[in-house]
Amino acid sequence: MKIAIAGTGYVGLVTGVVLAHLGHQVTCVDVDEKKVETMRRGISPIYEPGLEELMAANMERLTFTTDYAAAYRDAEVIFIGVGTPEKKDGSANLSYVNQVIRQIAASLERDAVVVVKSTVPIGTNDKLEQLLRASLVHPVQVELASNPEFLSQGTAVRDTLHAARIVIGVESEHAEAVMRTVYAGLDQPIVVTNRRSAEMIKYASNDFLALKISYINEIANLCELLGANIQDVARGMGLDPRIGDRFLNAGIGYGGSCFPKDTKALHWVSNYYDRELKTIKAAIEVNDRQKLLLVKKARKYYDSLEGKKIAVLGLTFKPETDDLREAPSLVNIPILLDDGAQVYAWDPVGETNYRKLYPEEVTYCPSIEQALEGADLCLIFTEWADVKALKAETFRTLMKTPIVLDGRNCFPLKCFEGSGVTYDSVGRPTVH
Ligand code: UDX
Repeated sequence: MKIAIAGTGYVGLVTGVVLAHLGHQVTCVDVDEKKVETMRRGISPIYEPGLEELMAANMERLTFTTDYAAAYRDAEVIFIGVGTPEKKDGSANLSYVNQVIRQIAASLERDAVVVVKSTVPIGTNDKLEQLLRASLVHPVQVELASNPEFLSQGTAVRDTLHAARIVIGVESEHAEAVMRTVYAGLDQPIVVTNRRSAEMIKYASNDFLALKISYINEIANLCELLGANIQDVARGMGLDPRIGDRFLNAGIGYGGSCFPKDTKALHWVSNYYDRELKTIKAAIEVNDRQKLLLVKKARKYYDSLEGKKIAVLGLTFKPETDDLREAPSLVNIPILLDDGAQVYAWDPVGETNYRKLYPEEVTYCPSIEQALEGADLCLIFTEWADVKALKAETFRTLMKTPIVLDGRNCFPLKCFEGSGVTYDSVGRPTVH
């Protein structure tokens, strides 16, 4: 099939590359000429394991352009994967999606199905279809389909190729048939619903996972006070198939481009209709508080952080991504700096983006050892594999005062028992 993709962020680019891999002819459109040039050379503008390799293997079916009119003119299917960032009031900003719809309307010269992959409020597909039909320049038949995205950053390619399900929200058999043809090459369960249900599945899924994380984080905080171990508790809970063992890792809260935005957006909608989702409100509040856990703990170990050298391991919101959006490091480091601490940070891929925000204030270290050297305190914000491979000995010998505050429970407690390092993690007893 001839497919166009609007937007080459995580959703758009990964979708485009996977669809090319399935044998479709794919044109990816982006407004950023520099980004398009980079992709034409086979380089992915985002750090995503496996993406560049899959891109390279399918370059003959991939075109990258800023010329949206040429891309949309004769496409049978057009995917929209542009951002729907959060507005100040928490609602979703649809201006990029609306702009793409207008561009499609101005360009389309054949019948097509327009597929919304961007996360949009329930009912948006209906409105976009009206807007598209009202603005069409050529007399063609168009339909909207909702096809929410469930990929996680860092495992985006694998998640797309082996998704637990493909959700398709359509209002006609024709649109369903087109969508089934698009995904014919993937052996995954397909859930077909109406468009509003598909839009809701996306928000309800993300918000449920966010809720699960906030729940386990609250239980973890209580475990810490009561002498229980959250990892044992989570294992005991997770073996019950009604609960499931995934997304029960306690830590310093969820970040990233989806959970924070989607919880706020659904909460906004529920308030708008005077049916406030109190569970989601609680998940948001718990997460905001949880993100500050390490800085609060740091202040317990020292009366003042003035002049203290603090090693920070990990800046990104999770490993295997260079994305800093809503990362706990973004709320903790400014407070540490305000407290007068000297922050020595290490992150294998997040440094470049962090430098844009804090070029001078933070000292960036090319190795973990350099960050730890002479430190009064070590804070772990991201569970990078290199961090998890560290030995207690490394902290003990390099740090001035070996106190490790681990926001991601990277190590079994026994690694630090009797090590001479104070190891304070989330929801588990502190060991020395
Ligand atoms: C998420 C959803 O998983 C995905 O389906 C959706 O399409 C986009 O949002 P992503 O944001 O890439 O994906 O990352 P994810 O792995 O879900 O983690 C989100 C945040 O939750 C991270 O900050 C992570 O550290 C945190 N998390 C996750 C926990 O704190 N505990 C867990 O058990 C799992």
